[in-house]
Amino acid sequence: MRLTQTGHSRELHAVGQLWYDKAMPRPAAPDSLDKRLLVSELDARSEQSTLSSSSTVTHAVHELFVGRKSEVTTLQTALAHALASRGQLVLVSGEPGIGKTRLAQEFADSARQQGAAVLWGRCWEGDGAPAFWPWVQIIRTLVQQCDADSLAKDMGRGAAHIAHVVPEVCEQLPHVSTTTGMDSEHARFRFFDSLTSWLKRAAKQQPLLLILDDLHWADVSSLLLLQFLARELADARLFVLGTYRDTEVSSGHPLAETLGTLARMSQRLALGGLTEAEVADFVVGTGLYSGEALVTTLCKETEGNPFCLTEVIHLLAREEKPTVTPFPIPHGVQETIRRRLARLSPACGQLLTTAAVIGREFTLDVLAHSTNVHTESARLQMLTLIQEALTARLLVDAVDKGHTYRFVHALVRETLYEDLPLPQRIACHRQVGEAIEQLYAVDLGPYRAELGMGKN
Ligand SMILES: Nc1ncnc2c1ncn2[C@@H]1O[C@H](COP(=O)(O)OP(=O)(O)OP(=O)(O)O)[C@@H](O)[C@H]1O
Ligand SMILES: [Mg+2]
Repeated sequence: MRLTQTGHSRELHAVGQLWYDKAMPRPAAPDSLDKRLLVSELDARSEQSTLSSSSTVTHAVHELFVGRKSEVTTLQTALAHALASRGQLVLVSGEPGIGKTRLAQEFADSARQQGAAVLWGRCWEGDGAPAFWPWVQIIRTLVQQCDADSLAKDMGRGAAHIAHVVPEVCEQLPHVSTTTGMDSEHARFRFFDSLTSWLKRAAKQQPLLLILDDLHWADVSSLLLLQFLARELADARLFVLGTYRDTEVSSGHPLAETLGTLARMSQRLALGGLTEAEVADFVVGTGLYSGEALVTTLCKETEGNPFCLTEVIHLLAREEKPTVTPFPIPHGVQETIRRRLARLSPACGQLLTTAAVIGREFTLDVLAHSTNVHTESARLQMLTLIQEALTARLLVDAVDKGHTYRFVHALVRETLYEDLPLPQRIACHRQVGEAIEQLYAVDLGPYRAELGMGKN
């Protein structure tokens, strides 16, 4: 589906600007000695142990950050180089849920404290995003942060080439007229060069940390731009941090080629599962009872994947019976998510499935039209179901954009989507396509077949 050529569809895809920057300070996990004392105290307290209240645990789970010490050290060292005008490119890889984005968030907090401006670009899963989507997000944010004078000075004549990809530049610099066409190699080169020069100049005022999240979903143009920028980093106060799921990058994947090209220009950090001691830190830090046997089981079953761990702890915290030992721990990311989804009312589960077809983020209007919610009472009922999913922390409110919600993690959406049998999935795509067509008067004509909507 490519809806990206019209203004409305751009708005729709702006919905895909998923990044929400959590600048909250997070308390450190208990140090190992405290942890050991706590574990042994809890062990001594014994079989009758009880769980902390679900909401306390939920809160703690999201605040904690454990392990990743060597990765943090590597990133900090690289940051010191970047701040001293020796630009850096670091690529963080690992399986889904292993903590790539979270590591980037933690690092972003620290880089911000050290004076860097942090700019996020999140790649869009699936078709439909405009070319250069993660870069568009980065450019937009930086344009908004600059005043017109410095923008004009730093962009120079390159402004026209940048404005061609990000028209918002013209809102700040109305005298700039955009160039046309990005088809030729030459035009693309001029855009790459203009953007790189601008970023380097802007970084002289304030060092920049650019975070490209989920590069396995990046379009080819975005990857080419990354390669171009990587070659220009040596004397810049720029730090580029990319994350990707290595599990999705088989040979032939566009990112595989880029990784080959970047081999000598980047540092790699491959994240593995948390160690048993780190899992123990995590469990204890949540306030949840932790016996060593439980930690060992959790570690084995989740393989130290923090996403799995987080989800299992949510499940444990909600158990009606407070004893943790007989609790069957789900194995693997998807089973863990299914267990949480299974606790929802069927109507809520159904609603979330439709939402998953819309995307990681969705507006109430598109969801309502996709599910034939047209009356006030039906809308109220829908809001109750949304509330149920919010309470279960499967959705979060995208507070910055009214009436918009987001799956708490891409994996929740993916599981719902993948569990939908193909015929229903096609039917649901059709409903969603029709809803978008009605709401935004987008001409889906050429894409009707792709959306499973049949011919006009
Ligand atoms: N070191 C950690 N300590 C505590 N919690 C963590 C840690 N790493 C990740 N988490 C939590 O685990 C969950 C999954 O992490 P995250 O979203 O960073 O995974 P990811 O590798 O980016 O996954 P994906 O490939 O799907 O984007 C999040 O809720 C995150 O806060
Ligand atoms: Mg991620």
